[in-house]
Amino acid sequence: MKCLVGYVTKTGTTEEVAACIGQILQASGAEVEIKSIDSVSDVEAYDLLVLGSPINGMRVLPEFKAFLEGKVAGSGKLVDLFIVSYLYGPGRKIWKRAIRKELEQLKTLVKADSVEIVAGRLPQALPGAARFIFGTPRDLPLDTRDWDKIEAWAGSLARGTRT
Ligand SMILES: Cc1cc2nc3c(=O)[nH]c(=O)nc-3n(C[C@H](O)[C@H](O)[C@H](O)COP(=O)(O)O)c2cc1C
Repeated sequence: MKCLVGYVTKTGTTEEVAACIGQILQASGAEVEIKSIDSVSDVEAYDLLVLGSPINGMRVLPEFKAFLEGKVAGSGKLVDLFIVSYLYGPGRKIWKRAIRKELEQLKTLVKADSVEIVAGRLPQALPGAARFIFGTPRDLPLDTRDWDKIEAWAGSLARGTRT
């Protein structure tokens, strides 16, 4: 099976998550390419597309959405999405709802088999006013990624046991 692990990133977090997912798929015997989506001209060569974007402004990056619309929707490929969000878990419900709405639209657009929400990482601490608006606690670590959870999801893709 040939897999593309494609990502977009602003500050490197999603790229590191993509590398981890790619390694797990590789270890299961799949042929894997881990690439920034701007270097993917088409998806014809792949059996499985595992595609990831960070959330900025409660949405995926515009280039990620354009890639899904232009190159993935209607391709008939097996698709799984991973979305990296700092606020989804610890933030206010209103932000969680906004992110969920975005993800449901994307899931429908590309008929994704699964969508994994990965806890994100900030390059620097949020100012107090932003913490108040977003509802994040002061002692929340900058890097909230849960590598065991990421590996478990990637393993479920490798085994074909996604839920
Ligand atoms: C400019 C900016 C805007 C962000 N907006 C959101 C947001 O709306 N919701 C959220 O959950 N996280 C937000 N984040 C946090 C990112 O989702 C998180 O830092 C993620 O790990 C970044 O991934 P990247 O390093 O691949 O760009 C934002 C981060 C930045 C730098």
